[in-house]
Amino acid sequence: MTAPVQVRLCPGGPLLVRGATEIIDEGGNAVPVTRPVVAICRCAGSSRSPWCDGTHKVLRTRRPRTPDEPAP
Ligand code: FES
Repeated sequence: MTAPVQVRLCPGGPLLVRGATEIIDEGGNAVPVTRPVVAICRCAGSSRSPWCDGTHKVLRTRRPRTPDEPAP
């Protein structure tokens, strides 16, 4: 029996996905997952889409924070 896939939403950041074997990107393409945990971009700013490359931290400083986001 395999462990269930776990998804955690990081406030102001990516989705952390544990246990997935592939991610379907916004173009419908299956992207293989080779690591136990991967970070999926939610800000649409990553140059390594669908993976988070940390760009959300730069974008966060350019707009007002939501109440659930940590300070940069
Ligand atoms: S969420 Fe990290 S680069 Fe988009």
